[in-house]
Amino acid sequence: MNFYVMTLFPEMIMEGMKTSITGRALQSGVISVETFNIRDYTNEKHGHVDDYPYGGGAGMVMQAQPICDCYEAVMKKIGETEKKPRVIYLTPQGKVFNQKLASEYAKDENIIFLCGHYEGVDERALELLETENVSIGDYVLTGGELPAMIMMDCISRLVPGVLGKEESADIESFHDNLLEYPQYTRPVEYRGLSVPSILLSGHHANIEKWRRERSIERTLKVRPDLLPEADLSDKERAFLRELESDRKDN
Ligand code: ADE
Repeated sequence: MNFYVMTLFPEMIMEGMKTSITGRALQSGVISVETFNIRDYTNEKHGHVDDYPYGGGAGMVMQAQPICDCYEAVMKKIGETEKKPRVIYLTPQGKVFNQKLASEYAKDENIIFLCGHYEGVDERALELLETENVSIGDYVLTGGELPAMIMMDCISRLVPGVLGKEESADIESFHDNLLEYPQYTRPVEYRGLSVPSILLSGHHANIEKWRRERSIERTLKVRPDLLPEADLSDKERAFLRELESDRKDN
């Protein structure tokens, strides 16, 4: 998986990506990240990349020229490909990123990110680059760099070879639309709080059942919107109905 990031703050991207698991994946070459500084491509003699919005209004708008020229440099670097690489523009006006989109993106060989700043980007740049507009949630950040890093992190862990064998068991969380069950590690007792005894029983089937039930319980409490899509057995559906009726009674 090769990521290309068009940004005004390349150092921010590299600092974030070179740590922890993505850092290890970069070292081993399973993923690559290359940044392109949009400012390097401006034709404006003072190095400006933005201007006032036509029609008035607050803030500045990033101009189409440096973005389009930067994109051409990225495409030249990528070279000939079978299909046009996806260009993702990070914006609160986009569709909301989730695990399903991450799985789809993880199949790509090359992904280009466009990080905006100021009040946005000249719409013509987005049209010319045929961007896919993606938001990471219903809140507004100062720029697209953190969202791009979040997306690269999430996509990377789905790329074969990025996670170790033990870590990859975790891949399924969220896939089945349930939140994770609570986890515990040593010691058995901490500040008067004990690890649930079933986890010490060594009885794997009971542990699995307990974990699924805690997942269902937690999802009902925190993210009930996920439950209609959750993959539950008949017994688990019955358990959910019981929880729901208990909640109504209380
Ligand atoms: N840029 C600013 N806010 C954003 C968000 N929520 N998602 C993606 N890009 C953004």
